Amino acid sequence: MVFYLAIIIIIRITTTITNDKLSVNQQSQFSEIMKKDINIGLGFKKEIDEEFFSNNTINPDFVEVAPENWIGLGGYWKQVLNKVADKYPIITHGLSLSVGSYDDLDIRFIKQVKSFMNEYDIDIYSEHLSFAKTNNAHLYDLLPIPFREDSIKHVSERIKQVQDIINKPLVIENVSYYTSVEQEILEIDFIKEILHQADCKMLLDVNNVYVNSFNHNYDAYDFIKKLPLDRVEYIHMAGHKKVSDNLIIDTHGESIIDEVYKLFDYTTSLMGNVPVLLERDFNFDDIKGLQYEMDTMREICKNNWI
Ligand SMILES: [Fe+2]
Repeated sequence: MVFYLAIIIIIRITTTITNDKLSVNQQSQFSEIMKKDINIGLGFKKEIDEEFFSNNTINPDFVEVAPENWIGLGGYWKQVLNKVADKYPIITHGLSLSVGSYDDLDIRFIKQVKSFMNEYDIDIYSEHLSFAKTNNAHLYDLLPIPFREDSIKHVSERIKQVQDIINKPLVIENVSYYTSVEQEILEIDFIKEILHQADCKMLLDVNNVYVNSFNHNYDAYDFIKKLPLDRVEYIHMAGHKKVSDNLIIDTHGESIIDEVYKLFDYTTSLMGNVPVLLERDFNFDDIKGLQYEMDTMREICKNNWI
């Protein structure tokens, strides 16, 4: 709690706000991935890189990479990335853009992401609706933005600034959070209004909706139903860990539970066909289990979309 208060104070005394008037000129095509009827992807991880080329255990339709982990790399890992790009369509899912910060956006970094996307023919750049940076220092965490009207205006302007540079919609993800910060409006209204004002796309993390609905005691189904699902560019699914009777931690290290599959089934029944990505950040012992999770999601998608 002390940490959060410190962050809030830092935000309040930092006053640099960008006000550029920007527009989106180009819609994301995502054409390569959408050639298939159902598209189930997996986050590419260096720990299991060889599994992505063996065809024996996992068989995703596309992969997702964090640009921060790959921009500027040469040598062996550059060769691996080239192999990945030869075999799979790629989505970039960033970690450090920090759309909620009051620091100036890192324009040089955004241009690097744009070059990276051009180099590997990538259509989508997604990021978290959070802040991860303050006073030019990375916090190495994805912290919640205050659900307030002034935050909506601030974040929307920053998203438009990014979109103007990359010349396509930014895809914004709903994040998990463990305490709200100076909340004045509902989370659902905060997200909806930013999507509208920034005219951006959404990465809908169904597990994050489940985790937040449990931790903050709201109805996950009602939350999903109220979202502008026509703005969803793709979906995230992941596992989490229940650490007490009233707290779930979004770990990306466990298997997906049945309740999250049910919420995913409901979500996909309300919307059209979009790609779905399985997130797993550690616990890679059971590689076949990852394929089982992808297969399960594929069956649910088939039932709702074909
Ligand atoms: Fe996610």
